[in-house]
Amino acid sequence: MSGPRPVRFGFVGTGWMGTTMLRRLTEHPCAQVVSVFEPNVRKAREALAQVAVPDLPVAATYEELVEDASIDAVFLCGPNGTHGSQSIAALEADKHVFCEKPPSIRFDEHLRQVELARARPHLTTYVDYILYFDEFEQRLRRMVADGAFGTVTQIQVNYRHSINTSGDRGWKLQRSVMGDAIGMGINHGISVMLFAMQPQAKPAAVYATSLRALNRPFEAHPVWNIQVSFDSGACGFLFGDIDSPYGYDAFHSIQGTSGALVFDSFADRSRKVRQWMTPEVGGRSAAGGAQGAGRWIYPLDTERCRAEGVTPWPEDTTTPDSGNVLEHQTGQSVAHFIECVQAGKRSPLGFDGAAQVAEVGWAAQISAVTGEAVQLPLDSERTLALIARHPESFVVGSR
Ligand SMILES: NC(=O)c1ccc[n+]([C@@H]2O[C@H](COP(=O)([O-])OP(=O)(O)OC[C@H]3O[C@@H](n4cnc5c(N)ncnc54)[C@H](O)[C@@H]3O)[C@@H](O)[C@H]2O)c1
Repeated sequence: MSGPRPVRFGFVGTGWMGTTMLRRLTEHPCAQVVSVFEPNVRKAREALAQVAVPDLPVAATYEELVEDASIDAVFLCGPNGTHGSQSIAALEADKHVFCEKPPSIRFDEHLRQVELARARPHLTTYVDYILYFDEFEQRLRRMVADGAFGTVTQIQVNYRHSINTSGDRGWKLQRSVMGDAIGMGINHGISVMLFAMQPQAKPAAVYATSLRALNRPFEAHPVWNIQVSFDSGACGFLFGDIDSPYGYDAFHSIQGTSGALVFDSFADRSRKVRQWMTPEVGGRSAAGGAQGAGRWIYPLDTERCRAEGVTPWPEDTTTPDSGNVLEHQTGQSVAHFIECVQAGKRSPLGFDGAAQVAEVGWAAQISAVTGEAVQLPLDSERTLALIARHPESFVVGSR
């Protein structure tokens, strides 16, 4: 019996990320790339040759691609500022959408994306918050859900590294194209935090401050400090910086009533993860309390675990250690999207499913401008009015 027919893609933006993703699509047995749109035709031809599909047509305009009736889905890898309008046009043309992050750099476009995704439940939408697929992150989500930490009280996630602005990626310095630093990368940290907390709590309020560029000439503030209050009473904290010269910092610290875990992306592999293990008493975790019944274990140190009678994590467990997309789980994100489209499923990372990730980012920006904590969910009308009063801090436009 033959399986479902391949998903037919229109591919957009064959730059650094795009070329990697195009390769993943050509490797997938259920994907067929039908055509490409890339304004720099020479770059498009080079990318197509690199991934061994040199004869694919290059559309003259995005409109030509999106109106092609033979295309089921668009795959958007252009600069940040293109994601909003291109995804909205695709949804309006009844296409599935794989969208690189950020979903949009304008709040009105964010609202429209969520509205369209809800109004068209037969379409799969997906935002590439790719750390979701890292095995360490998947394990962390299961641990929270299974009560490995009891009730989580505090979680910290850092997202600091130096994003690549070399060559024709200079657009990442311009606010009108890049948008803001949260959308440019710090939203990975927000997605990790919210999905880890999802089994226990939802974000209820955000307070944030930001700092102007002190190294490279970013027009938007590259440094962010974001505090998320959850409806359970737990607190999340995120240090973000897209201009940090000190390597890829995805530090996590999570603490609850009966367990804790620390992840340090800079440490040697065997020391990257340490987990507070609380002994079981009568089938239940002993309360840590003042005595702190338990001990630290190192689940990625296989030898030490064996010596201490602890089950180590599998040797091939991936951890978020690098800002290089080639080392990210691109194959898994592509496979997930195709599986959702073929099964008629919505993704947890869709415009609607992951709307809170974007919303925390918008709330952080509003908080940084007003100096006040911002309650969630956001009031759309008030937020649009506030943004209109601060064109110096937000990208605004009319649709
Ligand atoms: N999920 C991740 O971890 C991750 C990692 C890296 C990049 N990204 C995202 O991928 C996107 C591309 O980033 P990059 O580093 O590959 O940048 P890049 O500059 O290398 O590639 C962008 C490409 O888009 C093309 N382009 C310009 N205008 C366009 C338009 N109107 N429509 C379509 N394409 C257009 C450019 O010519 C270029 O080839 C960005 O949105 C970035 O945030 C995501």
